[in-house]
Amino acid sequence: MRVGVLTGGGDCPGLNAVIRAVVRKGVRGHGFEFVGYRDGWKGPLEGLTMELGIEQCRGILPRGGTILGSSRTNPFKVDGGVEQIKANLERDGVDALVAIGGEDTLGVATKLADLGVDVVGVPKTIDNDLSGTDFTFGFDTAVNIATEAIDRLHTTAESHHRVLVVEVMGRHAGWIALHSGIAGGASMVLIPEQPFDIEDVCARVTTRFESRYAPIIVVSEGAVPLEGGDMTLVSGEKDAFGHVRLGGIGDRLAGEIEQRTGAEARAVVLGHIQRGGTPTAFDRWLATRFGLQAIDAVADGDFGTMMALKGTRIERLPLIEGTGELKLVSDEEYAEAQVFFG
Ligand code: F6P
Repeated sequence: MRVGVLTGGGDCPGLNAVIRAVVRKGVRGHGFEFVGYRDGWKGPLEGLTMELGIEQCRGILPRGGTILGSSRTNPFKVDGGVEQIKANLERDGVDALVAIGGEDTLGVATKLADLGVDVVGVPKTIDNDLSGTDFTFGFDTAVNIATEAIDRLHTTAESHHRVLVVEVMGRHAGWIALHSGIAGGASMVLIPEQPFDIEDVCARVTTRFESRYAPIIVVSEGAVPLEGGDMTLVSGEKDAFGHVRLGGIGDRLAGEIEQRTGAEARAVVLGHIQRGGTPTAFDRWLATRFGLQAIDAVADGDFGTMMALKGTRIERLPLIEGTGELKLVSDEEYAEAQVFFG
């Protein structure tokens, strides 16, 4: 059997570990051959391939990014896109695809599976917002990077009696903010699921200073104020999946805090630092296990499925269960962080 592999959407530490596991087990365990598709769905759409075998996967386990490249190409937004993909798979002699991606990439995989393409999905996103799986790989690395940043910001904030606002990724879900905020001892965590009251934020800034410590506020890029207003955007331009580019809530918040409390406030945007570089041991472990199970699913002909972590077990779920709706932070989980606010 010849298997195509692609990685789509925002990159994520652990993608290379999945590719390596898929190929290693596929070649040695199942006698498969592989074709690497470049740059997400753009690869099968435009016929962009690369050689992919055990040799190409040597040394990539601890490397961030993806050797296959990535993009946010949506073949359903291209006239005749599906037919083009089917024709290219046939031309390349590819019998099945392993698609590694988040809600958008796996959303495409779900629709293609319905249209007769033999595809297996592996969930990835640093945002951890895919339902069906307890965790996605990349998330642990992002949380560790954000936590280290918060630890460092505590000492400089205290030296200068400043408020430091840390903006982390999280378009629809506040998982990175919640986990790093709890781990880093943030004075407040503001997430998209819980619109924030600026008066309350300022009151907690004031009480925090009374305790002689400086406030650290962790905010997801998708957080919104209670009094209304949209998410803060870098650009209103939409990508092929309809997403605008978020960013700027940290600066906006720091400005408001300074104006309302008189305390000096600065914002730090962690941005793509959260996505780059080497994956943690947990993410390498999870990504490797997802890869091993995904290629077994291909060997079993169990198409239209995605891998999911349930406790410590990797299970196969229908793709739609992972992409149907986003996994958001619940009120109960947010309440755990609130205990430490102020
Ligand atoms: O989906 C993962 C993510 O990291 C989001 O948290 C963020 O909004 C987005 O990707 C940023 O994407 P890009 O790198 O394309 O600007």
